[in-house]
Amino acid sequence: PTPNRHEAENASYTAGSTVDSNHGGFSGSGFVNTPNAVGSSVEWTVESASARSAPVTVRYANGTAQGRPMDVSVNGTVVAAGRAFDSTGTWTNWTDATLTVPLQAGANTIRVSATTANGAPNLDYLDR
Ligand code: GCU
Repeated sequence: PTPNRHEAENASYTAGSTVDSNHGGFSGSGFVNTPNAVGSSVEWTVESASARSAPVTVRYANGTAQGRPMDVSVNGTVVAAGRAFDSTGTWTNWTDATLTVPLQAGANTIRVSATTANGAPNLDYLDR
């Protein structure tokens, strides 16, 4: 496995989500399909050896024509409000979204949470 890869299917996610495998190209055993609603979320826990800013990559697919923005929170604080997760054209076209986030030493939670009724894109993994 890729070091520091955190599969969405092994993370915490909104009740009512499903781990699906019907759109190929994902990593691991599937991807997380959350309910199409405001607040649908996936939360990963990642370790950092030190307090620092670090890039994280969220791999997603959004086969609709509309963006699916999400708030990105670290340890309960929104660090990127309404971050764009634009259309990827098809559900099998997985795309990396990379942003730099502030991490503390030790365990950190990184959560993405949909800000529109269209919900979150399908989520494959977080790398950090
Ligand atoms: C389709 C697609 C799902 C996706 C959903 C959505 O049903 O097959 O994988 O999650 O659209 O709009 O979120």
